[in-house]
Amino acid sequence: SKKAFIFDLDGVIVDTAKYHYLAWKKLAQQLGIEFTHQHNEQLKGVSRVRSLDIILNLGGIQASQEDKNKWLIQKNEDYLSYLVNIDEREILPGVLPVLTYLKEKNQGIALGSASKNAKPILEKTGIINLFDVIVDGNDVTNAKPDPEVFLQAAKKLNITNENAIVFEDSVAGIQAANIANMISIGIGEANTLHEAKYIFKDFTFIDVSFIESLIN
Ligand code: G6P
Ligand code: MG
Repeated sequence: SKKAFIFDLDGVIVDTAKYHYLAWKKLAQQLGIEFTHQHNEQLKGVSRVRSLDIILNLGGIQASQEDKNKWLIQKNEDYLSYLVNIDEREILPGVLPVLTYLKEKNQGIALGSASKNAKPILEKTGIINLFDVIVDGNDVTNAKPDPEVFLQAAKKLNITNENAIVFEDSVAGIQAANIANMISIGIGEANTLHEAKYIFKDFTFIDVSFIESLIN
């Protein structure tokens, strides 16, 4: 039957998590805050505003709203500078075959991302037309692990939550999917994403028979 397949963007469809990391690291360094890969895990799936708060907290820094706004703009401009030349090569291995298979099988395909930069990224990588529905950081008020973004996506596809499948690389996103009673599929490390119903290192480990079992 028809299911809703909801994809996170950064770290699931495209390899942009590394650019977020570089941009946050640069800002942290400028503020004299140590920022490691480990710290970065906490920012995955988390909104831009909340990410800055987490970083300032790491450094024990209290800042005015004016400074925060300035840094948020700076981080985003820095992040966007990495995206200027991106194209379909930024799509992670194994993702396109799954998307085209789902399209062939007439399944609902949605984006469920916290990013406000989602649409230009889907355009630049040439896959925006594969999505029936796009819900991103411009549409939601409550960030993951709040399930709002996934609930909106399933609703727009007219599919019940139990018939929705979520692909996520972040702990917050897996929690959001679970709270929504959706089937959570973690993309990444098993020890980080252990709350997911299924976990795959990346999309190349997902075969057609697995996708078929989700549809049937
Ligand atoms: C995703 C990423 C986060 C990012 C957030 C907001 O959830 O995993 O690293 O901070 O989106 O993205 P934006 O492009 O709006 O800054
Ligand atoms: Mg992600």
